Amino acid sequence: MSDVAVVTGGASGIGQATVRRLLDTGWSVAIVDADGVGLEEAEALFAGEDCIFLQADISDEDEVADVFDRAAEALGAITGLVTSAGIARDVPAEETSAELFRQILDINLVGSFICIKAALERMGRDLSVVTISSISALRANKGRVAYGASKAGVKMMTEVMAMELAPKRVRVNCVAPGPVETPLVSELHTEADRRSWAALTPQGRYAEPEEIASAIAFLLSPDASYITGHTLVADGGFTVAGVMPG
Ligand SMILES: NC(=O)c1ccc[n+]([C@@H]2O[C@H](COP(=O)([O-])OP(=O)(O)OC[C@H]3O[C@@H](n4cnc5c(N)ncnc54)[C@H](O)[C@@H]3O)[C@@H](O)[C@H]2O)c1
Repeated sequence: MSDVAVVTGGASGIGQATVRRLLDTGWSVAIVDADGVGLEEAEALFAGEDCIFLQADISDEDEVADVFDRAAEALGAITGLVTSAGIARDVPAEETSAELFRQILDINLVGSFICIKAALERMGRDLSVVTISSISALRANKGRVAYGASKAGVKMMTEVMAMELAPKRVRVNCVAPGPVETPLVSELHTEADRRSWAALTPQGRYAEPEEIASAIAFLLSPDASYITGHTLVADGGFTVAGVMPG
């Protein structure tokens, strides 16, 4: 029997590229996403493959319990989880309402937590979890007061869960991407933003979703069997850069 992964946010962007990669390496995959239209498109894209498509809002515990039950019934006990579902906003701190702050924390941080607990309750002999943080968790980027806080929370949540769950054959790791060409970013970044990001990134460009999916797939796989609690930064050099050659 193949390994079974749930990929939240698997209908788009980094999640979708991860689904492609996992299917290609023999995983059975359940995509969990809130976007019904996106799920229909994913269903067409992955037609005939070992993949199921489930609609849920990851911040809703009942909906998450229902779709994780359905994933385990259809595919078997869960051995992998990628929590890619998330939202981003670029809003100055002074203009960020408490309501928007709560919404971003609720989806990006609490939603990821709810999904990890749901996977733990339906896990096979082992479980490997990969969460998605961001370089906005590691550097202060404009407009990211709530988003950056949510992603810094994801990184620390990963570390605590990795430590507590290691004796139960559970690994929990994190990938922190730099800018990636996805629908989320095409909505968020203006042309001026794109120039700034490229100028501050030694590799001088955005990542393709597949370049993040390969980092996720590595941490998820047994190749990373002695790695837990780690945050793998995939950012074209953004977080290490100082003064760059002109
Ligand atoms: N694209 C980037 O530059 C970048 C950089 C760093 C981190 N990230 C993170 O990577 C992850 C994926 O981002 P992406 O760029 O692929 O975005 P995306 O918008 O292309 O995909 C995100 C998916 O998550 C789903 N989703 C959103 N809220 C949901 C909810 N409440 N319940 C269920 N599904 C929900 C969306 O429907 C969508 O299909 C996010 O957590 C994002 O914060 C992205």
